[in-house]
Parts: sequence; structure tokens; C-alpha cells
Amino acid sequence: MAVIGKDILKASSLLEQGKLVAIPTETVYGLAANALDTTAVAGIFRAKNRPTFDPLIIHTYSIEKAKEYVTEFPTELEKLAKAYWPGPLTLLLPKKNVIPDLVTSGLFDVAIRIPNHPLTLELLQQLKFPLAAPSANPFGYVSPTKPEHVNKQLGNEVDYILDGGACEVGIESTIVGMENGKVCVYRLGGLTIDQIENVIGKIELKINSSDNPTSPGQLHSHYAPMKKLVIGNVEELLKQYENAGVLSFGDKSYEVYTYELSRTADLTEAAANLFAGLRALDESKVEIIITEYLPAIGLGIAINDRLTRAAAEK
Ligand code: TXA
Ligand code: MG
Repeated sequence: MAVIGKDILKASSLLEQGKLVAIPTETVYGLAANALDTTAVAGIFRAKNRPTFDPLIIHTYSIEKAKEYVTEFPTELEKLAKAYWPGPLTLLLPKKNVIPDLVTSGLFDVAIRIPNHPLTLELLQQLKFPLAAPSANPFGYVSPTKPEHVNKQLGNEVDYILDGGACEVGIESTIVGMENGKVCVYRLGGLTIDQIENVIGKIELKINSSDNPTSPGQLHSHYAPMKKLVIGNVEELLKQYENAGVLSFGDKSYEVYTYELSRTADLTEAAANLFAGLRALDESKVEIIITEYLPAIGLGIAINDRLTRAAAEK
């Protein structure tokens, strides 16, 4: 098991030595290493058992810093950065040579974001390099939203876990890039489509669900618990399945083990509880997890996307 603490100096000194440190962000915990050090980055792939065709997001603390790692920052994307950084927004921008090919899996664009968490922002300001950090979970499993989640699954792989408490947003960042001069969203996440369109107008959605994706955040089966997850009419499904537990939304009561995403049907609260809920049900005695789609508005769209992928056959 790894040490969990709030010591930024310890975290920065380990990272300077090329070690792995789990860092808190507003979305989910990240498994961080020096993004400019290929050996350190290789350690991330090894620890997560992640295929090297799945590129990593780099994290920095200012737009000026981000510009040091890219050859171009299109106006539309810069508008989004100014409006929503630090925040749950990742931008795909053409990379400079300083960013190792391993980070981008050989792609021309690098994914960059400024996370909105005071501890991690302070850490990033102290470091002379950006941090490559995927979600701190074994490949394909549910992302961690608390330090203990990281410790349970990757405790033997990380050198330190920086404790920033529970993640406030709870689902990963929204990934945005450009294609043929048009702004496209590649992964739904903590920043809603409405929030993006309020700043730059209509955008395109490129959310594939295939088993051979160009952006592996789009893998059909992803964010998955170990147990079978079934989505539909909860009351009906409870009649069909024995030993089931429910991931519930709104003011409802069931006779079986239930994890409440939000009793008041608040989508922000539901997003923050989503992954912890899947974990709790996974660790409980139930054999099947039953849930329903949430209202497809705002964060509900990204939550439903995660549920669909979590329910997909592995
Ligand atoms: O909220 C988040 O984004 C969290 C926190 C830790 O920042 N990170 C995260 O990383 O979710 P990860 O690795 O679990 O998911 C990143 C996704 C991957 O599915 C990857 O395919 C996509 O971003 N991605 C990264 N670099 C890319 C690139 N250059 N082009 C296209 N997609 C990219
Ligand atoms: Mg991930």
C-alpha cells in the first residue's frame, strides 16, 4: 500500500526522480509522472496495464505554459481555455517535439488540461515539467474519486498518493479538438455541451462507440465494474434478477441494497457519486447491478455515456 498524505514537497521530489504519484483533480484522481521523461511515462503504462496505443493527457497550470508544448492554439479552443480552465476541459492541440511520442501514442496532437484542484495546481507550479496523468485505475476499470480507491487498486504501483479529498466533479474531463476547421467533442465529461456552445456556438459530437476507436476514451467497454450492470426500468428489472442491487436516482426506495446517486435528483451530485457508487455495489454482496438512464440533459448526458460503457459486454 502507498502512503496517503498532503505533502506537496514530497510529491514534487518523487516526481522529479521519475516516480509515480497519484494526484487529486476535480474530475478523478490521476496517476502522474513527468510528461517530458519517457522512462517515467512508460512507468504509467506499466502500472495501469494500459496499452501504449492509448494516449495520455498532460496537466499544466496556465495557458502560457500550455503554449510551450504546442505549435498552435486555434482561437476557438483558446476561447474555451479562457472560459473553462482550470476545469474539466481537455484540449487536443498540435504537439511540439518536447512532448514524447509515447505520451501521444504517436499522434500529432497532445491532450492538455489545467485541472481545478488547489493542491495539484500548487504542485504543478512548483514543477519544471508538466504531468502526464491518466485516471489512476487499472486499464478499463472505474476511475477513482477518492484516495482510498487509488490505494486499493494501485497501492503497490504508486510511490505516493496526494490526498485532495473526494473529487467534486466525479467524471472525467470533456475532450475537445478541431477537425477540418470545426470544433469537435470526442469525449463527454464534466464540462457540458451547453457550456461549450455558450462560448463558441454549435459544435460537432464525435463520440464513437466502437471496439477499434481512434481515441480509446471511446472504447465500447470502459469504466466498467466487475459485476454485470443492467440499465432499464429498475422496478421491472428487479422482478427479473435475483441478488441484485440498485444504483438509484431520485427519491425512490427499493427493498434491495441501494446506493443513492442523488436523492434530490441533482445531476451534479449524481456525477460526483457515480464511480463511488459503482465501486460500492461491486464490493457489496449483490451479484447484479441495476440502474436506469438519467435525464439526458447537462451532466446527465455524460453520466449516461459512462453507464452505457460500463454495461457493455467485455
Ligand atoms: O479528467 C480527466 O481527464 C482525467 C484526469 C486525471 O485529468 N484523466 C483521464 O485520463 O481521464 P485517461 O487517460 O483516463 O483518459 C484520457 C483519454 C484517453 O481515452 C485518450 O484516448 C484520450 O484521452 N486522449 C489522450 N490524448 C489524446 C490525443 N492526443 N488524441 C486523442 N485522444 C487523446
Ligand atoms: Mg481513464
